[in-house]
Amino acid sequence: MQLIKAANYEDLSKKAATIIAAQIIEKADSVLGFATGSTPEGTYRELANMCSNKLISFENIRSFNLDEYYGLPSDHPQSYKYYMNQNLFSKVNIKAENANVPNGSAPDPNEECKRYENAIKAAGGLDLQLLGIGRNGHIGFNEPGDRFEQWTHLVELTEDTLDANKRFFDKIEDVPKKAISMGINTIMNAEKVLLIANGKDKTDALEKMLYQPVTPNLPASVLQFHRCATVIYCD
Ligand code: GLP
Repeated sequence: MQLIKAANYEDLSKKAATIIAAQIIEKADSVLGFATGSTPEGTYRELANMCSNKLISFENIRSFNLDEYYGLPSDHPQSYKYYMNQNLFSKVNIKAENANVPNGSAPDPNEECKRYENAIKAAGGLDLQLLGIGRNGHIGFNEPGDRFEQWTHLVELTEDTLDANKRFFDKIEDVPKKAISMGINTIMNAEKVLLIANGKDKTDALEKMLYQPVTPNLPASVLQFHRCATVIYCD
C-alpha cells in the first residue's frame, strides 16, 4: 500500500485529482468508481478545473458511485446522485447515461443491487475506485460487522454513521437508515483504489486500517490485501 501524507486539504485534493487525471489520460475510456462525503469535494473541484482546461476529458468515461441512501428520491439535495451532479457531473463532459449511481428509489432494493453489480461487470469492472473512510472504518457504506459483505447490497446504517451524517440533515431522524452500497469484493476487484482521508477524526480509523489485523469490524482494513492501493491523508 502506498501511503502519502499531504500538507493540507488543498494539497490532498490536488494529489488525488492528479492520480485520477493520470488514469484518464492513460485510458480515455476508464471505468471510474466515485465516492461522496465532504472529503472528495476538493478532488472533484480540481478534476472539473482540469476538464475545463482541456487537460482531461470525460467523454468516454463511465462511472459508478459507491453507494446511495435508500429511500431518498434522486433529486433530494442529500441524495448522492444530487451530490454528484452538483460536484462533478454537471461540471465535466461525462455523458449522463455513463454516470451511474445506485437507484435509491428502486421499488425492490435487492433487485437494484443485482442490477448495479451486473452493470459494473458488464462495463468490464472498475479501473480505479476513489474511497473516503468513515469514522468507524467503513468504506462506501460497508459498516463494521462480523463478515465482509461481498457484492452490492442493502445496508442497515449504524448509529455512528447516522450520527456522523446528521450534519447534512435538519435532524437525525431525517437521515435515511438504509443505503445501497458496493460490497467489499466489488471494491477489491477494482484495478486500483485511492483512499483519501482528511482531518483528525479519521486518524483512529486510518491507523487501525493500516496497522491492525484485517477484520470486518474495520472494513477498510481489507485494503491491506489490495494489489494497488494508495492512501492520501492529511491532519
Ligand atoms: C459516507 C459515505 C462514505 C464516505 C463517508 C465519509 O458515509 N457513504 O463513502 O467515505 O461518508 O464522509 P466524509 O468525507 O464527509 O467524512
